[in-house]
Amino acid sequence: MKYPHLFEPLAIGSAVFRNRIFSSPQGYYNVAKDNLPSLDEVAYYERKARGGFASVTVGDCIVEDETGTHYPFLLRLEDRSTLPGLAAIASGVTRHGAVASAELNHAGMYARFVKYPDGSVYGADSMKNAAASTVLGGNLYGPVYIENGKYGEVLEMPEEMILRIIDKFGKAAAWAKSAGFGMVTVHGGHGWLLSQFMSPTVNTRKDRWGGSFENCMRLPLAVIESIRKNVGKNFPIEYRFSGSEASATGYDIDYGVKFAQAIDGKVDIIHVSAGDHEDDHSIVITHPSMFMEDGINVKYAAEIKKHVKTPVATVGALTDPEMMEDIIASGRADIVELGRQSLADPDLPTKARTGREDDINKCLRCNTCLEHTGSIRSLRCATNPEIGFERDAKIPRPITERKRVLVAGGGIGGMQAAITAAERGHEVILCEKSDKLGGVLRCEQDVPFKKRLHEYLDRQARRIAKAPIDLRLNTEVTPELARSLNADVIFAALGAVPSIPPIAGINGANVTEATALYAAPETAGANVAVIGGGLVGIELAIYLRTLGKTVTIIEQLPTLVSDDAGMHLLAHDELLRQPDITIHRGTSVTEITPSGVTCRNDGGEFKIPADTVVIAAGQSPRRTEAIALHNCAPEFYQIGDCVTPHRIITATSQAWTIARDV
Ligand SMILES: Cc1cc2nc3c(=O)[nH]c(=O)nc-3n(C[C@H](O)[C@H](O)[C@H](O)COP(=O)(O)O)c2cc1C
Repeated sequence: MKYPHLFEPLAIGSAVFRNRIFSSPQGYYNVAKDNLPSLDEVAYYERKARGGFASVTVGDCIVEDETGTHYPFLLRLEDRSTLPGLAAIASGVTRHGAVASAELNHAGMYARFVKYPDGSVYGADSMKNAAASTVLGGNLYGPVYIENGKYGEVLEMPEEMILRIIDKFGKAAAWAKSAGFGMVTVHGGHGWLLSQFMSPTVNTRKDRWGGSFENCMRLPLAVIESIRKNVGKNFPIEYRFSGSEASATGYDIDYGVKFAQAIDGKVDIIHVSAGDHEDDHSIVITHPSMFMEDGINVKYAAEIKKHVKTPVATVGALTDPEMMEDIIASGRADIVELGRQSLADPDLPTKARTGREDDINKCLRCNTCLEHTGSIRSLRCATNPEIGFERDAKIPRPITERKRVLVAGGGIGGMQAAITAAERGHEVILCEKSDKLGGVLRCEQDVPFKKRLHEYLDRQARRIAKAPIDLRLNTEVTPELARSLNADVIFAALGAVPSIPPIAGINGANVTEATALYAAPETAGANVAVIGGGLVGIELAIYLRTLGKTVTIIEQLPTLVSDDAGMHLLAHDELLRQPDITIHRGTSVTEITPSGVTCRNDGGEFKIPADTVVIAAGQSPRRTEAIALHNCAPEFYQIGDCVTPHRIITATSQAWTIARDV
């Protein structure tokens, strides 16, 4: 057994955890208005249990609708009609040998809701109109009165409401237990109600529910007691909280230790997360960004573990089974919990246990998953196209006729199409015009924060090498070649080329293009001007800064891509606010000269000195070349950037979906 500590079962009360790898709480954000979870939701959680996780937690089950919900379409445990749906999730997880847990939450002053004309209270339709919705709906309640809270006025929660909510936590736990859940997870972290009350800076109430440490502890302890009364002695209670809020205004690890000591022995697992989701700096710590090291938050669990007897769980940026084994073997935690990694590869536990670590699809920490919970309220993963489509993925697609499939282009989409078509038994020829697989993103292979991307491309290349795929490198697919190969199906996955704007001086010796500079960063001078503030330009600037360069980003639009904050983009914000990075928004480059660039914005014309000028002005799809292949085979599909340059998820998802259909 390569990971003896990681796979040592753990018995707690009535539950037996088959190993130490838990799927951390993840909410499902499209529960229908009738409060019934969809079959997709059941399949999502069940998939993790099937992959070998010891416990799977359904995130964000709200204990009181009227005051506690922060998002539309969350599971509301007060509603007794949830039973069939909850039971379906619980049994979906349990029948695969995992423990199902329900995370109990109340949003407190960050609740957002609307009142429908029929009088029912429901979550606001979008985070952005949250303030308006508080006008439409009822009041917001937190530990103390705040005139201008983030989502409007916050009223001090009256004692009778506190007592009612304590009771609701208990009842919700009993409800989850009766639906077949084997554990409950109390959400006491990340800024929600219980952490608002435990926080010494937020909870300055003058009555017995706030002020002193003892008073700040009163609500969390009362909630634990209420749950215990409702679920009995042997039913495991996991308590999740932030070991440190890791922000200028939040509490630190010393306070986290004190809190853990106060709940020690009263709960069965102390689950140590970090950060506060209402703080832009700190939310990036709750969900560590790709710019942070693996296991960055383990230190908080490790410190707490020194001071308590209750088993401790750690979470955050865990991907590598060896690191997980080491965390447990070294006594820094008893359990590891995986969030985003459980989407990237729900089979991680089984793969680690059976010596297939090489085949683990490691999370890029690109936050595509979180972004989709906000935009389409469904979970997706950039590199695992099955997420969101677990029910579809489970249905085998045997082929009725073995086809000859030609895939033109060995980038992200092409590789996925070849793998999926070959797995189904088609004869696949994959042609790539360069000498390696991976496409344009290979240029970032030495960038430390793109390490996982590079590993993902390597894994796809390994899958291709192992599959019966006829791989032809250094082979450009022309219509002549395509016709001569007599394919039944052609996938055009030809990618895109950098867009070069028509600026005077663009052909100067000091001008290069982003992918070229990524591949040869040593060619950059000390001062670099980056034309274009999209994702590519921004990340290039961050990379160049780590190499000691001074960088100026010039963006034509009034905002950078990161100004429209998503979680990944919040991580950029922090890194861009450095003295050696200057940003000019709403600014055009009118000329490139040997000494730099001439720019124009509302303030007039000005010059920026630069040794190197980099073009990061987007990509142009190779549409003409792709369309030229359309009549070279009976079936023809265009996928990925050669249709419209987009994100990784677009290419993987199209490739997987279409290759499952051919
Ligand atoms: C899609 C998604 C949904 C999440 N939903 C919840 C939730 O409902 N409740 C919660 O406590 N944490 C939630 N989290 C946070 C995770 O449980 C975890 O703490 C965080 O992602 C850091 O772990 P990771 O680096 O392994 O992803 C969510 C995370 C993701 C990625």
